[in-house]
Amino acid sequence: MLNRKNILLGVCGSIAAYKSALLVRLLVKAGANVKVILTADAANFITPLTLATLSKNPVYTQYFEAETGVWSNHVELGLWADYMLIAPASANTIGKMANGLCDNLLTAAYLSAKCPVLFAPAMDLDMWQHESTQENISRLQQFGNIMIEPGTGELASGLHGQGRMAEPEEIIAFLEIEIVKHLPLLNKKVMVTAGPTYEAIDPVRFIGNHSSGKMGFAIAEQLYAMGAEVILVAGPTTLTASAGITRIDVVSAEEMLQVCQANFIGSDIIVMSAAVADYTPVEVAQQKIKKKEDQFNIELKKTTDVLATLGSKKSETQLLVGFALETTDEDNYAKEKLRKKNLDLIVLNSLNDKGAGFKVDTNKISIFNKKLEKITFETKTKTEVAKDICNEILKLVKTS
Ligand code: CTP
Repeated sequence: MLNRKNILLGVCGSIAAYKSALLVRLLVKAGANVKVILTADAANFITPLTLATLSKNPVYTQYFEAETGVWSNHVELGLWADYMLIAPASANTIGKMANGLCDNLLTAAYLSAKCPVLFAPAMDLDMWQHESTQENISRLQQFGNIMIEPGTGELASGLHGQGRMAEPEEIIAFLEIEIVKHLPLLNKKVMVTAGPTYEAIDPVRFIGNHSSGKMGFAIAEQLYAMGAEVILVAGPTTLTASAGITRIDVVSAEEMLQVCQANFIGSDIIVMSAAVADYTPVEVAQQKIKKKEDQFNIELKKTTDVLATLGSKKSETQLLVGFALETTDEDNYAKEKLRKKNLDLIVLNSLNDKGAGFKVDTNKISIFNKKLEKITFETKTKTEVAKDICNEILKLVKTS
């Protein structure tokens, strides 16, 4: 859940600041990009060097670093963050946050952040119980900030009660649940096809194509990261998918058709990026065909168009996305396929575009929607292209 998420961690002056080292370590281990802001008091409890080393990023302590002349842009930091986490959050900083004060970089970044903000209070029992603290906390909650409740136990003062910061592992678990809650495709079921199909000629030979499956796998990963339950119907490929994705391997166009039909009704979104064979041998030789004649013909018959078959059965609530790979008159062919196959979106690849096509890590696409509007994109990595495609899908999910 935390993979590639930008986490802005604010650390306040509290003995619990020592736990921020483990917190940063766990966030980085989970794949997050972490930037840390320390208040001046926090820097008395934990050094910027420790957190810079663990986060692999410079640690910010003030607006302006006099020695280097570098000004830290709180607006940029606030906007960079997917999530802002303030842990430990001291009574002082909670008070400032609740009242719009911004006399340090942490509180200024807080005011600039547009992302969800979570805070894990840490303070002594009496400070925690004070009406003023409780009032400030409820103000923050009214602002939509999310509190990670402090635990009860022995406090640094020697007193016993509520006020100790949640453990780093608990904070990570809390954050992950929070991320899951905000995933845009939560509870959506998605089916993605990817890769080529192989049509057997005899036990050792087949008709195939150059598709690597990279585009379809990247789309499946992206939809999975957006919270969808993903079934990936994969033709022959050496690629691997995340453990949470349900992968069904197929070989031929006919097998792909059967699997797609079996999983179609339960799917909210279907993305057919596989390069399905259009023709398959009429007969498959049971034994290896021996080399005899000078010329040799294989009789082929049309395969069933999986995408068109699903398009003809599509309900109002299902979203169907197809691909078109063209070499001439690209736009017209793509629009015709969108209409004929009853699609919501069609992703056009032109082999004339540099950086598009098989076996390369980049792709250049355009997308047509039902209104036949064309959205064009630059040449990008297939992972970035997958994001663009999924964002277009998301727009339709939101408005449908
Ligand atoms: N497709 C399919 N089943 C087939 C052939 C194609 O589901 N038997 C799907 C592909 O997954 C893709 C879309 O149809 O999403 C378009 O594939 P493409 O090869 O570009 O077009 P075709 O419809 O096969 O037409 P042509 O080969 O004549 O361009």
